[in-house]
Amino acid sequence: MRFSLNEHVKAVHPPPISEVKEWAAQRPADAAALIDLCQAVPDYAPPAGMISHIQQMALDPLTSRYSPDEGLAEVRESVCHRYRRRYAAKINPEQVCLTVGASAAFWLAMLTLCHAGDEVIVQLPCYFDHPMALGSLGIRPVYAPYKENEKGLPNPDSIARLITPRTRAILLVSPSNPTGTVIPPDLLRRLYFLAQQHRIALILDETYSDFIEGMPHDLFTMEEWGSTLLQIMSFGKSYALTGYRAGMLAAAPEVIRQALKIQDTMTVCQPRITQLALQYGLDHLDQWVEINRRMMTFRHNLFTEEFSLPGNRFRLAASGSFFAWVKHPFPGKSGREVARRLAVEAGILTLPGEVFGPGLEDYLRLAFGNIKEKAIPEAIHRFRRFA
Ligand SMILES: Cc1ncc(COP(=O)(O)O)c(C=O)c1O
Repeated sequence: MRFSLNEHVKAVHPPPISEVKEWAAQRPADAAALIDLCQAVPDYAPPAGMISHIQQMALDPLTSRYSPDEGLAEVRESVCHRYRRRYAAKINPEQVCLTVGASAAFWLAMLTLCHAGDEVIVQLPCYFDHPMALGSLGIRPVYAPYKENEKGLPNPDSIARLITPRTRAILLVSPSNPTGTVIPPDLLRRLYFLAQQHRIALILDETYSDFIEGMPHDLFTMEEWGSTLLQIMSFGKSYALTGYRAGMLAAAPEVIRQALKIQDTMTVCQPRITQLALQYGLDHLDQWVEINRRMMTFRHNLFTEEFSLPGNRFRLAASGSFFAWVKHPFPGKSGREVARRLAVEAGILTLPGEVFGPGLEDYLRLAFGNIKEKAIPEAIHRFRRFA
């Protein structure tokens, strides 16, 4: 190659899901059917009413056009109504920007807040795309340590010790990907006030929050929440729309105004068809979302009960909706080595612990939310049999 590439990007690890899928492709043709606990995708489709709404909307020529950068006013209004029902939120459409997945919302937040060389405190274990994005932008992730006995929950004292003049934000994910752990509202408040006291942002990724029973937290009830909080949201998991790339950034109007400069140059807007699907979900599917939440809770209980029965050398370290975070029984072997063997020999796709941050080689993430209840016993049987 006669030109050089961005050193920050070159230093970032390749996408882990693609790596795992390559292992799966190495299996013999006559091997048992694959059990995919790798990428977190609801195994069910959006409801029929939403699909026929999308079909109808596709017939309207307007649907093929751009929308305003921040998204259609009526869709952002529907978001606000949903947030008032879900979070008792004090929110209005100027605080909402619809994005191409939560992934783009994270980039908007980071580019709006940080310069290259700044620091963001990242709680371990962390969602792998976050350090990948930070690394690509030359922003330094400063890791808050993982404590297994605290289920990976953030500790305000440890986080406070990591704050330096270069810190721009504390980044949290609740429910956590990969542990499934939900940050309790009181703890979240303490972290919010810690960020406020240090005049830094609290970035809260709530991609899985629709799988929490009841109101996830009360931060949105505060008058001035936008002075500290930026929320990253994905509706991909809520409405089984992962491929539609339905994300959102909620923040103070001034943050949104700045972020829109980036949105305009990056994606312009969330696709209109996605916005129309999202609006249908927001206006009509509270009950459907709640039914799926209960189903996921049932799946979680079944998975963790069976996984924890004696005779399984893999040990559950934490779990919640969608995810189990387990310690593998091979000290000295990396998560990558174990996950690769599980894929090739047992036909189970998992993600190695180390993709969720440094020092986590002893763990694996299992996205059991991907598989139906009837597939759970066979999945666990394969872990038990694995030597
Ligand atoms: C914690 C977390 N944040 C963000 C995302 C990305 O969401 P989206 O598909 O809406 O970009 C995911 C996807 O799995 C995730 O787990």
